[in-house]
Amino acid sequence: MAVLADGSIVLLKGKKREFLVEVSEGELHTDLGIIQLKELREMGHGDSVTTHLGHDFVIQKPRTIDFFRHCKRVGAPMIPKDIGIIIAYTGLNKEDEVLDAGTGSGILAIYLGSIASKVITYERNAEFAKIARKNICATGLKNVEVRYGDILSEAPQLKEKFDVITLDMMDASQMIPFIKNMLKPGGFVVTYSPFFEQSKDIREAMGKEFSEVRTLECMERDINFAKGRTRPSTRAIGHTGFITIARL
Ligand SMILES: C[S@@+](CC[C@H](N)C(=O)[O-])C[C@H]1O[C@@H](n2cnc3c(N)ncnc32)[C@H](O)[C@@H]1O
Repeated sequence: MAVLADGSIVLLKGKKREFLVEVSEGELHTDLGIIQLKELREMGHGDSVTTHLGHDFVIQKPRTIDFFRHCKRVGAPMIPKDIGIIIAYTGLNKEDEVLDAGTGSGILAIYLGSIASKVITYERNAEFAKIARKNICATGLKNVEVRYGDILSEAPQLKEKFDVITLDMMDASQMIPFIKNMLKPGGFVVTYSPFFEQSKDIREAMGKEFSEVRTLECMERDINFAKGRTRPSTRAIGHTGFITIARL
């Protein structure tokens, strides 16, 4: 098995805790003891590392969901139930070029980049753009470019055309007039808005220019399994945002 390269990011999965760490000279201090991260240099995925208090952690290659759980967050990252809808209904694939705004922590951009050929994502907050770049760099994705800027002022000059455009930003309705010139024929635009009013503004801005327009939301509820008492959990992830999908 190949040993881990210095600087690579791995998931350390224990029975009660898990950590996303960089293979480096440092130490990881946890409530279950200290792990010498340099020990990982001799190891590979599937091996175990032990804290000085004797707790084992299995080394795993992180997947996108692990970055969602552990990377630094700013604002309100999109959550997997909503990202899944976007990927499924746009039919996102490895040939697609995607425009995304705003970047926030880069969570949606990371998911999109793990499937599409290229993702350009705009963020108008310099600090958020920096954090998103760091998060994206940790994933190892080379096809996601974070551009610092306001998409509303950049959009009229943009020469690139996209298969899919995702807008998770307050004033998404103001982007709609630019979308027709930015989408490739048959491409999709998707907006994500927490409020009815924003979704209504987006639908009004779309007018009759787009086809297959729909606004939906997705709820996620676990099923609890217990002998003779198997039923849906009382708690659910209910409202997060309304997703409007439209096509040229
Ligand atoms: C809800 S967060 C996006 C979360 C992101 N989709 C994720 O999954 O991490 C909205 C972001 O849009 C940015 N934003 C709002 N309006 C923008 C604009 N006109 N141009 C670029 N970024 C914008 C905000 O600064 C904020 O970081």
